[in-house]
Amino acid sequence: MTASFPALRLRRGRAAPWIRAMLAEHRLHPSDFILPLFICEGQGCEEPIGMLPGVSRWTVDRIGARAKAAWELGIPCVALFPNTPGSLRTEGAEEALNPDNLICRAVKAVKDACPEIGVLTDVALDPYTAHGHDGLVDASGYVLNDETSDMLTRQALVQAEAGADIVAPSDMMDGRVAAIRAALEGAGKRNVAIMAYAAKYASAFYGPFRDAVGSGGRLKGDKRTYQMDPANASEALREVALDIAEGADMVMVKPGLPYLDIVAAVRREFGVPTFAYQVSGEYAMIEHMAAAGGGERDALILETLLAFKRAGTTGILTYHAIDAARLIHG
Ligand code: PBG
Repeated sequence: MTASFPALRLRRGRAAPWIRAMLAEHRLHPSDFILPLFICEGQGCEEPIGMLPGVSRWTVDRIGARAKAAWELGIPCVALFPNTPGSLRTEGAEEALNPDNLICRAVKAVKDACPEIGVLTDVALDPYTAHGHDGLVDASGYVLNDETSDMLTRQALVQAEAGADIVAPSDMMDGRVAAIRAALEGAGKRNVAIMAYAAKYASAFYGPFRDAVGSGGRLKGDKRTYQMDPANASEALREVALDIAEGADMVMVKPGLPYLDIVAAVRREFGVPTFAYQVSGEYAMIEHMAAAGGGERDALILETLLAFKRAGTTGILTYHAIDAARLIHG
């Protein structure tokens, strides 16, 4: 009589590091990451951001070195976000169109210090509006779609002119990808790519970011008339389909971890380069848990980022990019 045994023991594949390495289905690589960087006015400064432990705003003269450090670790792209001085935030967000504004100077500084790295700029008006919304508002506070889209188109051109390689509309206005694509083509900026924040949700996880760019305290109301309802999944696919049809080279889902079902569905449905933004609140959750002794920080970072790969993301915008790249390099 033969002893009974499981026909297949999946634990065999987990028995030692060499076989776990050999059977790993997904791997993290520094080229998976896009590093967001915050910029502030001033000289020679690093301003720590209270709600994002370990993340700072840097002055333009120091931003190039940050980008260079990322590049040397194998990170292919940085995403720049300005903390515009309060005096320059207006109802009409005119500063967004100033070719010498903080973001444009930062783009040039990064390109000067590290011409090889990709530079992504956010196209939205929230760092420039007095009310903190991503667009222009009417008397009732409603964000105007087409008027905003016109502004975003001009903003994208200003950023492209400064040297941005990817413009990333993060505003959720209808029709803006087509308008931006046409304007870029018209201006001869054929190789400036568009990464559309295609499925961006009205999320409670953006709080620390709004602190970082100084728009949170100003925000009147919420962004639910333009950002998506967290209850919706099919609508995300319609948003992505529209942005692809309008000329987006890459699409993004945001936030990240709570929306990996959307990432997976987008990859399955469209097969286009699909990025996810592990947003500020997700970063803060990990940092606070680790600081409280609830888990090992490095392991939390890698496990979380691996989840994005499993879901099928092409790349991840993450404030952990530098740490993760270092961990991968060992
Ligand atoms: C604004 C913008 C936001 C983020 C990126 N671009 C915040 C918002 O929509 O209010 C959030 C990123 C993060 O939380 O890390 N256009």
